[in-house]
Amino acid sequence: MPAKYAERPAPRVTGWDREPSTTDERNFTTHAALGWQAWNGMSPEQEFCEFAATMARVTGARIVIETGVGQGYTTRRLLDALRPHGGTLLAFESDAMWRGKVPLDLGDTPTGEQLAAADLTVLDSDVPVRLAEIARWRTHARAGALLLVHDCGNGHADDTPHAQIREHIESLGIAGRFLANPRGGFLGIQSAGLRQLPRSGFLPPAAGEVA
Ligand SMILES: C[S@@+](CC[C@H](N)C(=O)[O-])C[C@H]1O[C@@H](n2cnc3c(N)ncnc32)[C@H](O)[C@@H]1O
Repeated sequence: MPAKYAERPAPRVTGWDREPSTTDERNFTTHAALGWQAWNGMSPEQEFCEFAATMARVTGARIVIETGVGQGYTTRRLLDALRPHGGTLLAFESDAMWRGKVPLDLGDTPTGEQLAAADLTVLDSDVPVRLAEIARWRTHARAGALLLVHDCGNGHADDTPHAQIREHIESLGIAGRFLANPRGGFLGIQSAGLRQLPRSGFLPPAAGEVA
């Protein structure tokens, strides 16, 4: 059985004060291609964090949901990306220990109503939580909403959490594509009713849509 995230050793969290430097991702994903960087085995690749933030900025997302804040590498970049256009980050962490380390008021996992309000949802929570979040997003996200999931595998064995997440996404028939980062990712779009997409940007959420 693959090791559960919760069983892995916790690095000392200093990133909210001063982010430590990255190292070669091949220290964490032995089969990774040269050129990817990460902070440790539980952080996403630096490139994945920056991709999430660039998507938030370039799409002008007004509401972004992030789950699995953990050490906050994605969170810090999303906050920077949203600040210039006044977007809002709703960040979630299911593990009380990690929740206690970050200067944000976090819940554990988003509701369907919150997912329905998000322009972009970034999922990197503990695996059982993430599987449920992917299914909840599929049910509730509105047409044109974007989904970015970490750890969908890229050459990982069938018995890994990465393979489990990939199969789950495939089974739900979410439109999109898997990504080439070493730990794998998925970029999806809620496809039902694509004809309803506005000509530019995202529609603001209706009043009262966020719980
Ligand atoms: C891959 S981690 C999330 C990493 C996060 N996105 C970040 O930038 O640091 C997924 C989940 O595993 C749990 N977790 C357990 N041990 C952890 C560790 N050492 N570091 C970070 N998260 C850990 C947390 O609940 C976290 O939300």
